[in-house]
Order: sequence, then structure tokens, then C-alpha cells
Amino acid sequence: MSDRFLFLGPPGAGKGTQAQVLAADRGLLHLSTGELLRAEVQAGTELGAEAQSVMARGELVSDALVLAIVRARLLSHDGGWLLDGFPRNLAQAEALSQLLQELNQPIEHVVLLQLDDGILLQRLLSRGRDDDNEAVIRNRLEVYREQTEPLIAFYRQLGLIREVEAEGDVQAVAGRISSVVS
Ligand code: AP5
Repeated sequence: MSDRFLFLGPPGAGKGTQAQVLAADRGLLHLSTGELLRAEVQAGTELGAEAQSVMARGELVSDALVLAIVRARLLSHDGGWLLDGFPRNLAQAEALSQLLQELNQPIEHVVLLQLDDGILLQRLLSRGRDDDNEAVIRNRLEVYREQTEPLIAFYRQLGLIREVEAEGDVQAVAGRISSVVS
């Protein structure tokens, strides 16, 4: 059974929610760069201080900082994993390819969650995280379209994209995901 996944999709598509379900089901390490960065902010570390204002604007935190976090986690982990919210641009995707080559752990599936902007906005506004106000959500969506969406073509070329409609309840989406990954 596959045990190395990326979850890709716009803010609010349900990456974190579905990643948690699949990781629990398969006993994988769930690595969410957003969660890790929020934990640094919460703990008041130097890294958190650097990330906080960038996250509040909905921009991307520096590649070097995020890469260092992911690298350390993957190097110290033995077993399957699921990356959620990383990579976020082509530079991160290329750095990840290099790291995974070093580790001899190729990605098996890139799950792409697709959802209309109107539903994304509704989901995020009703969650109400610090970066979930309308102006910041719109910026996060713009950053996604400009910097992250090009990764779809990058991974499609490698034959890894598994596209999933993210509308409907959590269980329905989880069922669709499990039917496209083996
Ligand atoms: P990150 O934490 O990754 O946020 P995001 O991509 O904007 O994604 P969200 O967490 O908002 O949405 P999601 O798709 O995970 O959906 P979720 O399951 O939560 O990143 C935050 C910030 O950190 C970035 O803006 C950036 O600054 C920084 N950052 C992170 N990674 C970075 C990187 N690699 N490089 C640089 N910077 C980085 O669901 C959303 C809501 O919908 C929840 O309330 C959930 O309960 C609900 N929901 C989920 N599924 C359903 C469903 N089927 N039906 C109804 N409601 C649902």
C-alpha cells in the first residue's frame, strides 16, 4: 500500500482535514507546514516571530525557513508520510525532489482537492482562524493561483496527480480520495 503523499489545493479545500483522516487510517506522519509554523508562533520562537506577520498577510514564508523544517522532520522519521501545504511553489517542489532523491523516497500520489472559490470562502469564514478574514483569504487565494497552481502541471508531468472533487461532507470526500489512491 502507498505511504508517501502530497496534498495540494487552495486554502479551505480540506487538505488538513483529509490529510488527518488518511494519515490516521494508514499510520503516516502528517506534516502540515501551516500547523508547524503556527506552533512556532504560539511558542514565541525566533522562527515564529519571523513567520507571524507574513502569515497574517497570507503571503508565503521564506522557502529556506520552511525547507529547513520539512528536511529536519523527514530526516528524523522512519516510515510513511503525508505532506500538507508543502511544497507551495516551484522552488520548494524542486528542493523537495532533491531531498526525496537523497532519501530514496519518491512521492507516490499527489492528491489535488478542487473546490469553488465561493465554498472555500464560506468554509474559511466560518472557521475564523487568525488569517481567515475576507481580505486575507482573497490574498491567500491569489498567492495560491500565482505560486502554487503551477505545481499541478509539474506533478501532472510526473503522472502523480489524483484529482478529487472536494465538495460534500468530510466522509464523502475521504471516500473519493481512498478510491483514487491505492
Ligand atoms: P496553511 O495552514 O497550509 O493554510 P491553507 O493552505 O491556507 O489551508 P487551510 O488550512 O486554510 O485549508 P485546508 O485546505 O487545510 O482546509 P481545512 O482542512 O483546514 O498555511 C497557512 C499559512 O502558513 C500560509 O498562508 C503561509 O503564510 C504559511 N505557510 C504554510 N505552508 C507554507 C509553505 N510551504 N511555504 C511558505 N509558507 C507557508 O478546512 C478548512 C475549513 O473547512 C475547516 O474549518 C474544516 O473543518 C472545514 N471543512 C473541511 N472539509 C470540509 C467538508 N468536506 N465540508 C465542510 N467543511 C469542511
